[in-house]
Amino acid sequence: MKIKSLHIKHNILLAPMAGITDLSCRLLMRPFGIGLAFTEMVSANGLVLGGDATKGLLASEPADRPLGIQLFGENPVTLAEACRQVETQGELIDLNIGCPVKKVVRSGAGSALMQTPKRVAQILAAMRRATTLPLTVKIRSGWDSSSINFLEIAHIAEQEGVDAITLHPRTRSQGFSGKADWSHIGELKRRATIPVIGSGDIFDAEDAQRMLKETGCDAVMIGRGCYGNPWLAKNILALQQGASALTPSVDDRREVALRHIAIFLRYNSERKTVLDMRKHLCWYAKGLAGAAQFRVHINQASSIDEMRSLILHFFQHAAMATTEDP
Ligand SMILES: Cc1cc2nc3c(=O)[nH]c(=O)nc-3n(C[C@H](O)[C@H](O)[C@H](O)COP(=O)(O)O)c2cc1C
Repeated sequence: MKIKSLHIKHNILLAPMAGITDLSCRLLMRPFGIGLAFTEMVSANGLVLGGDATKGLLASEPADRPLGIQLFGENPVTLAEACRQVETQGELIDLNIGCPVKKVVRSGAGSALMQTPKRVAQILAAMRRATTLPLTVKIRSGWDSSSINFLEIAHIAEQEGVDAITLHPRTRSQGFSGKADWSHIGELKRRATIPVIGSGDIFDAEDAQRMLKETGCDAVMIGRGCYGNPWLAKNILALQQGASALTPSVDDRREVALRHIAIFLRYNSERKTVLDMRKHLCWYAKGLAGAAQFRVHINQASSIDEMRSLILHFFQHAAMATTEDP
């Protein structure tokens, strides 16, 4: 797949997910077959004001490429300046037009932009002038069910020189409830002259195959389906190549859980690692015998050593339970 000048090896993209897809998560996921990953959403205002926390979201390294930098904001001048600042730190810039979070929407950014098409045009024109990198947008279907306007926003994006468009076909009012309406992705693909990336409700490899087939989209973006399951990308690739999807063994899960901790610890303090890894470790354990109790213990763990021994103990017993009681 190609987005402007950028060649992407696999048409499986890792969704930007605030609080989840940090550098360590991306590094863990990439070897499984991710063609392009994105930073968590980065505030253009925060960047221009020079905030350290905001800049920290841009952390990357050679193994974490190609990388899309996702910006959010509402001001064309600020977003253009942010583009100039990040130009050397990734291979692509994406504008967030989908975030439903109240604080973001109140400022006129994220999915609030679905309601202000003229502002979208001004912003994209300014960003386009500011960068030669491939420029993409990530949008929702509309603000609510009575204002479905993804085709209008996509048309504006094309006119302003955007190189690809991602659609998460839910409205802002839906948040993450209900089902993503993939028919919108199909409709967009039929109208668009630039690559279309489909996002929403891909939880297994068959879902990805179905989205590609039903909508004709050029690539799929995987989000929550990766929780505790980096094998999702590998399985999508396997199906594409005519092989079958594989279920990771308990040993695979233990190994990835330990690797995730080790990668996270490279960039973060022990305290932050203990707190941030909790959710990931609970996801790795999901569905295995004793997972509920493991969750309680992992959420009380206060050191990495403690976490590691809980993991070793839990997965060893889960493996025995699986063998005895398939
Ligand atoms: C915890 C979380 C954080 C997210 N953060 C972002 C974000 O920073 N930028 C963005 O464009 N979308 C964000 N999203 C939306 C996802 O990128 C994706 O479009 C959405 O979750 C639908 O895909 P899925 O059903 O595969 O999860 C986020 C979603 C979740 C669940």
